[in-house]
Amino acid sequence: MNILLVSGARPNFMKIAPIVRALGKVKYDNIGIIHTGQHYDYLMSKVFFEELELPEPNYFLNVGSGSHAEQTGKVMIEFEKVCLQENPSVIVVVGDVNSTLACSIVAKKLNKQVAHVEAGLRSRDMSMPEEINRIVTDSISDLLFVSEKSGMANLRDEGKRDDQIYFTGNVMIDTLYFQLEKLQKETGRGKEGLNKKYGVVTLHRPSNVDNKETFGEISDALIEISREMDIIFPVHPRTRKNLEIFGLLERLKSSHIELMPPLSYMDFLKLWKDAQIVLTDSGGLQEETTALGIPCFTLRDNTERPITVSEGTNVLVGNKKEAILHAYGMYRNNGQKHPRVPELWDGKAAERIVNILLRNL
Ligand code: UD1
Repeated sequence: MNILLVSGARPNFMKIAPIVRALGKVKYDNIGIIHTGQHYDYLMSKVFFEELELPEPNYFLNVGSGSHAEQTGKVMIEFEKVCLQENPSVIVVVGDVNSTLACSIVAKKLNKQVAHVEAGLRSRDMSMPEEINRIVTDSISDLLFVSEKSGMANLRDEGKRDDQIYFTGNVMIDTLYFQLEKLQKETGRGKEGLNKKYGVVTLHRPSNVDNKETFGEISDALIEISREMDIIFPVHPRTRKNLEIFGLLERLKSSHIELMPPLSYMDFLKLWKDAQIVLTDSGGLQEETTALGIPCFTLRDNTERPITVSEGTNVLVGNKKEAILHAYGMYRNNGQKHPRVPELWDGKAAERIVNILLRNL
């Protein structure tokens, strides 16, 4: 296998899917798909392979959950075996999860070419594990595929050469457009979804859900908003665990907030594409809501995706109750921002990436 594509956690699957498809289009099949097993529940993993039409992974490393060191270490040990056996020319890693970091280190130490998709994003917040993963991965990657212009500037500032940096656009949006088209064909419907006005919430960042007081403030704000607008909240496993531990579950259940298990890509898309607002701490959803023009309130103080704020629908509201409610009140009184879709978020990012990858083999 000459090109290995690494995926491990939920937000990786939608990033490798369009790359695998673009390789198929040019009939390049000397590839291997690696699933590290960082995420392993059906609803966090396999259902995404099915819906995104990804082939079964060639290697499943079965690393599971653990502390950062345990998880990263296990991926490194298992991925090294695969690299030694397959002797690929290039390893493609996507995003910023622990699997991204682990596989890029292993690959580089075996003198392989590393290509990072979604390179250059920076939140400047070193308390985020993802920021550390991004910085380390970019610092050792050979090919850097950038989704928004801020990434080009960040990589140049960090001393990367111009001939390593490629502004290729956003693979997440490739998947969004591809799946949206399928959805419209399947249902034969346009924009209409549930027959009511509602907001959608997702939360999983440790900075929001691992601290009782913070999660309590966010919950209070959501309960307050749900008095005016129904709220639907598919709950990430980390988040559910903490809702139980902190005794917040009953409080949320007795409000107008509908809690549900994590949703598959398509079920979630059906839900959020027709929402009035989205409240989230996800990285990908900040971008997806910008692409479809849905108002997004990001429950963080910073974002590594600043174009979603400067050009898109995103507003950073932090995680304090008053600030969240203030931002919601502004939206209710003044309506939404008028966004435009960022440059090269056109559904063709993976094709550009594949052209460059194959040229560099
Ligand atoms: C990881 C990524 C994060 C990404 C998120 C998307 C890192 C550092 N974090 O965070 O960047 O935005 O995925 O979901 O890589 N669990 C299950 N089933 C699963 C997977 C996890 O129940 O299939 C539970 C486990 O109890 C685990 C916890 O969720 O301890 C957290 O999982 P983990 O992979 O450590 O991090 P995420 O919070 O999912």
